[in-house]
Amino acid sequence: MCGIVGFVGAEPAAPVLLDGLRHLEYRGYDSAGIAIFSPEHGLDVVKTKGRLQALADLLEGGKQLEGCLGIGHTRWATHGEPNDVNSHPHVSEDGNIAVVHNGIIENYMEIKEFLISKGIHFTSETDTEVVAQLLEYYFGKSGDIMAAVTKVLHRIEGSYALGILCSSNPDQLIAAKKASPLILGYGDGCSLIASDVTALLKYTRDVSYMDDGEVAVLSAGGIQVYNSMMEPISKEHAHIDWDISAAEKGGYEHFMFKEIMEQPAAIRKTVFPRVKEGRVVLDDLSITKEYVQSLKKIDIIACGSSYHVGMVQKYTLEQLTRLPVEVVLASEFRYCDPIVDDKTLVIVISQSGETLDTLEAMKEAKRRGARTLGIVNVVSSSIARESDDVLYTWAGPEIAVATTKAYSTQLALLDLVGLYLADLLGTVKPEDYKSAIDEILLLPSKIENVLADKETIQYYASRYFNHDSVFFIGRNLDYALGMEGSLKLKEISYIHSESYASGELKHGTISLIENGTLVVALATYSPLFDKAMSNVIEVKARGADVLALTTVSHKTSMEKIANGVITIPDTIPMLLPSLGVVPLQLLSYYIALMRGCDIDKPRNLAKSVTVE
Ligand code: AGP
Ligand code: GLU
Repeated sequence: MCGIVGFVGAEPAAPVLLDGLRHLEYRGYDSAGIAIFSPEHGLDVVKTKGRLQALADLLEGGKQLEGCLGIGHTRWATHGEPNDVNSHPHVSEDGNIAVVHNGIIENYMEIKEFLISKGIHFTSETDTEVVAQLLEYYFGKSGDIMAAVTKVLHRIEGSYALGILCSSNPDQLIAAKKASPLILGYGDGCSLIASDVTALLKYTRDVSYMDDGEVAVLSAGGIQVYNSMMEPISKEHAHIDWDISAAEKGGYEHFMFKEIMEQPAAIRKTVFPRVKEGRVVLDDLSITKEYVQSLKKIDIIACGSSYHVGMVQKYTLEQLTRLPVEVVLASEFRYCDPIVDDKTLVIVISQSGETLDTLEAMKEAKRRGARTLGIVNVVSSSIARESDDVLYTWAGPEIAVATTKAYSTQLALLDLVGLYLADLLGTVKPEDYKSAIDEILLLPSKIENVLADKETIQYYASRYFNHDSVFFIGRNLDYALGMEGSLKLKEISYIHSESYASGELKHGTISLIENGTLVVALATYSPLFDKAMSNVIEVKARGADVLALTTVSHKTSMEKIANGVITIPDTIPMLLPSLGVVPLQLLSYYIALMRGCDIDKPRNLAKSVTVE
């Protein structure tokens, strides 16, 4: 969601900004723009609705603007429709100050009314414009841009990552952050800001992560960071050692397909180093046996697919630990006066580590005394830094908006956490522990088998891609799996789809089943296979076209009833969703492909949801 890049150095800034914004495209956006400052021309702003290519065309690849200081932005509209005027950067009325912003200024109406009463004219409908105009207003009073920034930051409420240019400071870029990510890059003779390290890697691997309340002043010679009291501070630097090629397509047509195919390797990286001599070893975890034994419950907080991982883990963790597990949407947890205390372990799941609702819900849990464990993919992201313990999924950069390998590695990692906790609690039999470990180690090669059969799924996609509405049904782990299958399908193919617990169908939804309705029946969970069959028969009797997913050992029975059957290898119940999700990802992928959808960047969606 939204991308910010800023550059100050000795070379023209525009091509650097365009290149940086390209690396942030995956986050999701609807318009793009840049502002460049040059001593000859002052502030130049070029912005447009639509894809980055439209901006690049306007700029002839960046050649049109010559200054070596600039800010760039890809916008994901929250206030005001995506159009040229609402695109960032926003410039103050007298043209002295340009601002790019990620987040929401919650009290913008009140500030806007105040500024209008002072005779200032607004051009856009955005909340962001008040930042540019208010900066100008305070700057006009003191003539000191840093004093103006301080005043503005005290006055605005909400979330922001800001990049600011002021023509009175012709060789400086100012950055500020609260609740939206912003990273500082220390280059050779240049300094940068970006929402994500991928935009910086071409110029530097030496970065630091801004914390809430901090302000940074960047010049070609270096970066000075200030805390919220405006006292100079020195920041810890991090070295990024992963290869940029990991964030490139590498010959695949889509990032999503590449990431689906990478799942066996990603799970190996997540799991194998954490299993030693048949035992789960979580060296990064600082929780003690006494603490685990004092726990009364586990809460899982997340959004979207990460929440669906939580839904699977509710079944698995409860089974393993015999502790009650509650899974709560982060956006609900924040405002529901949650009952958590020091006897609650709060597991926070997030690929990006920047999802604002998840981050804020985690802070709420901490305020109430709970210990938090982050399951995160992006190293040093906000959730990783702010949780009491963090376990990384090590899936590598995930670029496609629709998550695949992050989901799978989150599942696998939490399976390990479940076994680890169960072992400390004494709630798992040694033979069950052993067979779980044996099977987890086989998971990557079993996923390879599923991937090898992708043509079967492609065939079913060709049979069903014209449907307008799809129902996913399942029980227990299959119900949780269906939630992910359904989300995957709707987000990239734009087909309406619902996921239901099979037993719940006859309490209302079955009225929607008619001749030809596509029902994807998930029947991998062996203990309830017979019940799953009964539900398939029920919907068939009402005319549904049933595509079933089951294990190899149940294939023959299912083939007698369903219209089509996809199989996965047999395994222990807790690992079935890890296998079952792969054909569902492929099915969505092929259906979206056949419908001509923009697979990696679906409409209206953002990879990293940094607004509420
Ligand atoms: C998944 O395909 C979605 N794009 C989305 O639901 C995502 O899982 C959700 O926004 C949570 O993101 P996070 O894991 O980065 O916190
Ligand atoms: N709220 C701002 C707008 O609507 C910024 C959105 C973003 O983060 O891209 O313009």
